[in-house]
Amino acid sequence: MALSTKDLLGIKGMAADEIKLILDTAATFKDVSERDIKKVPTLRGKTVINLFYEASTRTRTSFELAGKRLSADVINISTSTSSVTKGETLLDTAQNIEAMKSDIIIVRHACSGAPEFLAHRLKSSVINAGDGFHEHPTQALLDMFTIREKLGRLDGVTVAIVGDILHSRVARSNIYGLATMGATVRVCGPPTMVPPGIEKMGAKVYSDMDEAVQGADVVMMLRLQLERQAAGLFPGVREYARLFGLNRARLDRVGKNAIVMHPGPMNRGVEIASDVADNSSVILDQVTNGVAVRMAVMFLLSGGAKPEA
Ligand code: CP
Repeated sequence: MALSTKDLLGIKGMAADEIKLILDTAATFKDVSERDIKKVPTLRGKTVINLFYEASTRTRTSFELAGKRLSADVINISTSTSSVTKGETLLDTAQNIEAMKSDIIIVRHACSGAPEFLAHRLKSSVINAGDGFHEHPTQALLDMFTIREKLGRLDGVTVAIVGDILHSRVARSNIYGLATMGATVRVCGPPTMVPPGIEKMGAKVYSDMDEAVQGADVVMMLRLQLERQAAGLFPGVREYARLFGLNRARLDRVGKNAIVMHPGPMNRGVEIASDVADNSSVILDQVTNGVAVRMAVMFLLSGGAKPEA
C-alpha cells in the first residue's frame, strides 16, 4: 500500500486508515534500527533533502537517519551556510535543489504554510517537519505510535496536553490525529496560551492542571517557549512551573500509571521536573520511534511496497 497523497503537510484531514497504515508500517521498520547493520535497500537510488530554516536536533537527525537506513542519499542543507544568507528565496532554493533531481524534500520553516507553498510548485514529495504554529505531523505520528506501543490502542485513550497550546504545532497535529483515532483530548494551559475555538478541533479545555490530568492515560507536556516571555503571556517562570509544571507530587495525583511524554527540547524544572523526565517518562522512546515513523512516511510517499523482511 502507499499514501494517496504526494506530500505529508499535516494531520488535519487525514483518514484514520491512513494514520493506521503509517503506524503499522513504522512497526515493521522499527526492528531495522535494532540490527547490527541498520540498513535496508528500500529507497536505494532515491535522493532526500533536509531543508531546515529553523533549528532542530531530533527531527533533522531522525529524518537523516531514516533516509540513510532506507539506503537513500540524504543531503542536509543548513540555511546559515547556504545562499539563503545572500537573499535567495525559499522557492528559488527549493527549485534549485529539485533541479538536482531530488525525490523528497523535508522542510522546516518559521512560516505556517511554507511546506504547502512548495508542495504545490514542486514534483518532489514535500514533508512538513514543522511550520510556524501550524503543524508538525511526523511528531504527532511518532507520539501516536508511542502511545499505541505502550497502551496497545489509541481508541478510548485519554490524553492531557499541557502548556503553550497557542504556539504549539505539536499540539495541533496531535489534537487532529488523536481525535481522528478515537482518543479523548484535554488541553490545559494559561488562558493566554489556549487559542479560542480549540474545542472545534476536538479538544476539551481545562484551566486547572490537576483537573486536566486526573485519570488521564497520557500526560503530554509542551515546551514553554521562553522566547515568547516578552509578550507577557504568563507572569513568570516560577509561577508557570507551579501552576502548569509536571512534578512528582502532581504525577502521583494523576491516579494511575499515566504515560508522560514531551516532544523535546525540554525546559527542565519548568514544564517538567528532572525526576519525572528521567525516571517516569517515555521521552527517549518517542525519539527512538521517530526514526521508524519517518522511515515509514518516506517509504509510503515513495510508492510503498512490501517492507524488507
Ligand atoms: N520535537 C522536535 O521537533 O524537536 P527538534 O526541534 O529538536 O527537531
